[in-house]
Amino acid sequence: EKGGYEHFMLKEIYEQPRSILDSMRGRLVAESNHMMMSGVREYENKFANADRIIIVACGTSWHAGLVAEYLIEDLARIPVEVEYASEFRYRNPIITEKDIVVAISQSGETADTLAALELAKSKGATIFGICNVVGSSIARATDAGAYTHAGPEIGVASTKAFTAQVTVLTLIAMILGTKRGTLETTKLHQLMAELESIPAKVEKALKLDNQIVEISEIFKDATNFLYLGRGYNFPVALEGALKLKEISYIHAEGYPAAEMKHGPIALIDEQMPVVVIATKDSSYDKIVSNVQEVKARKGKVIAIVTEGDTTIPSMADYVIEIPETSEHLMPLLSVIPLQLLSYHIAVMRGCNVDQPRNLAKSVTVE
Ligand code: M6R
Repeated sequence: EKGGYEHFMLKEIYEQPRSILDSMRGRLVAESNHMMMSGVREYENKFANADRIIIVACGTSWHAGLVAEYLIEDLARIPVEVEYASEFRYRNPIITEKDIVVAISQSGETADTLAALELAKSKGATIFGICNVVGSSIARATDAGAYTHAGPEIGVASTKAFTAQVTVLTLIAMILGTKRGTLETTKLHQLMAELESIPAKVEKALKLDNQIVEISEIFKDATNFLYLGRGYNFPVALEGALKLKEISYIHAEGYPAAEMKHGPIALIDEQMPVVVIATKDSSYDKIVSNVQEVKARKGKVIAIVTEGDTTIPSMADYVIEIPETSEHLMPLLSVIPLQLLSYHIAVMRGCNVDQPRNLAKSVTVE
């Protein structure tokens, strides 16, 4: 059932070229410049005219929501708020009939996410669901939605569900940008072609496995990790840290790289591994300075860079090269080495990767 892999998590990491493809299949045909999502089409006008989009989710799904905030605001110019479902539901939030609330959940059974969408529904908002489990409670409670087609995810640590969610959210941002006229045709076509090439690039990123095993060996006994990223890679930093702590029990924190100066920089010494996601994008120069700041305090930098980069590799202690893509799609690639890093470190520490202590696959109680 694990298809020859030692753990479900590893199998699911390796399934990503396929699960990403399945999540865009029939929804994107770059050759004919065609995009189609029935759930979105039904509510296209409402979506396009919404005052704002509120995304509610927990854990990894919340990280996918953060990526969507960057995507939708940039491509479709609709204000987006991303909320922890547990906070949103108890805050007496302001919700109107002109809001669209998007609930993201792999299992479709997360108690807080379900309660948050029920609350929004009672205030008249339109509820859109992005779930992986067909017929789940959240999927049934929404007005419309789009399934991720990641297939069953068994490992408690979410991997292929995250990349499938980001794929679907990217398509939604592109559809909305097209409808609202905020996404130029040339840029749209570029993004469509890039998105189609992502499964093959994920396949390539998975080949980094041996190199990541070596790095994992070096850092497996660390007690703390810091993950830094900017822009589209900021949510990926959060996701990398969550993956590491939940399965290896090593304390890890994810931060927007610029926030480092406002506190976490005090933690950096020669013992501190700092994973910096520093791919070539609009914030590249800024992240170069952040790497310099970490090195000046003797932190150990593990950098995720774009293939062919020479600047960051000249400063970092360990370098992991991933394929180039548009910054809008980078989370789909940059998260892969972080999933593998947490997996290998956890295995080396003898942890139960598929069923970490104290955690359940779906959190059906608040
Ligand atoms: O099923 P959901 O997507 O609603 O689950 C949300 C979180 O419980 C989940 O992502 C959790 O954070 C994972 N264990 C992270 O790997």
